Amino acid sequence: MSINANRGMHGVWLSRWTFIMAATGSAVGLGNLWKFPYVVGNNGGGAFVLIYFACMLLVGVPVMMAEVVLGREGRNSPINSMKYVVKGSDSGRVWQLIGWMGVIAGLLILSFYAVIAGWGLHYILELSSGSVVGINGESAASLFGELTSSPAKLIVWQTIFLGMCLLVVSGGVKKGLGAAVEILMPLLFIMLVAMLIYAILEGNFIAACKFLFEFDIASLSWRAILEAMGLAFFTLSIGMGAIMAYGAYMPADASIGKTVLIVSFFDSLVAIIAGLIIFSIVFSTSGIEPSAGPGLMFISLPVAFGSMPAGQSIGVIFFVLVVIAAWSSAISLLEPATAWLVEATGFTRFMASLSLVGFVWIIGLGSVFSFNVGEDFKLAGFTIFDGLDFLTSNIFLPIGGLAISLFVGFVMNRNMLLRQMIDLDCYSLTLKTPSYCSIFSLRVLWDWLLRFVAPIAITAIFIMGIYDSIVS
Ligand code: PFF
Repeated sequence: MSINANRGMHGVWLSRWTFIMAATGSAVGLGNLWKFPYVVGNNGGGAFVLIYFACMLLVGVPVMMAEVVLGREGRNSPINSMKYVVKGSDSGRVWQLIGWMGVIAGLLILSFYAVIAGWGLHYILELSSGSVVGINGESAASLFGELTSSPAKLIVWQTIFLGMCLLVVSGGVKKGLGAAVEILMPLLFIMLVAMLIYAILEGNFIAACKFLFEFDIASLSWRAILEAMGLAFFTLSIGMGAIMAYGAYMPADASIGKTVLIVSFFDSLVAIIAGLIIFSIVFSTSGIEPSAGPGLMFISLPVAFGSMPAGQSIGVIFFVLVVIAAWSSAISLLEPATAWLVEATGFTRFMASLSLVGFVWIIGLGSVFSFNVGEDFKLAGFTIFDGLDFLTSNIFLPIGGLAISLFVGFVMNRNMLLRQMIDLDCYSLTLKTPSYCSIFSLRVLWDWLLRFVAPIAITAIFIMGIYDSIVS
């Protein structure tokens, strides 16, 4: 089938709000709840948070808008959307790699993401059984060790989680993805607010605020700045195909600029709220360090829950929240490849997502074994799990983001671009009334951020960060 015949074959979201919920669902996930707090903890707090927000605003938001533009213009899977837009722009085929790289990065991320989400599922059961009540740090670490040292347990949970993703993605855009996010996202927000209230009442909220917002610039290295940028890309789900795929299902009349700002606002808000919740709880129990690393959520938090009032039930709610957030993100990692397989082979959605889940399951075994039988197998000091995480977040996503900003900024056919972004011309920075093509329009600001600020920042941070990682 030609790309033109395929365009729009997957359908569109019911409304702009469904897109907002789906994109927020993709953005808000383990990156906000599990990674953000421990990476902030490892990098000393406030200064890192500041750099993270600067990356979000100056690089993340413009690149996310560019990704949605590409998706909505292409109306296909990222691979075929890029093919369509590259053809329409009369540009080199090398730009089509953006689509391929995104789909591959998505599957690689999903392979280790499903393993961590599986830990979340296990902890729902663990906390429900009451085994963390009154637990100390040592016992919590050995409980976590019992889980990660057992390939069988990890594989069971990883399989269940991937099955949950299959269930949603095989249902298609409206009945699968759309319906799932319309239920999951409101639930997620209610639980998050409930957890925040609990953290304020029972945790050490002041210490958490101090830790997240007080800053010491001296604690920042280039590697930390690279990490902050990688984290901004990861938590916004940009630099790969997920947002492009979701953009392809966006109603034609919805404003891309406004919508993306709403999504990134929600994403940052959740990262901050998650940080406040987790550190309030962590600081309320003496002897727990914020720099506990990836185990922060699975070792330190259960200790805290075990000693707090109603901690057991609250702990169960917390891990349900983690799994919901991970689920609504994981489906966006599977969707780009699924849409492409349907377009390319004519498979049904079910067959396409089943084949991909099988493929991801196999790659995921590498991450499963990184915690037990294969923990000594290291390349350049990384286990397979750490390597995949570093490679995707700190290398693939920034390179994808750079390529997207250069393509949309300089290469994409201007008519295609303006068709998607015309509404931004109506908002002038200086005038309240619409002023088409005013040089102060938000589109000009966006153009400038996309063409110069984002590529220069990504390249500089990338080179310095990699250099720093090699030297240290
Ligand atoms: N944004 C998700 C999170 O913060 O957990 C992770 C993610 C989802 C990254 C989808 C990339 C992606 F395409």
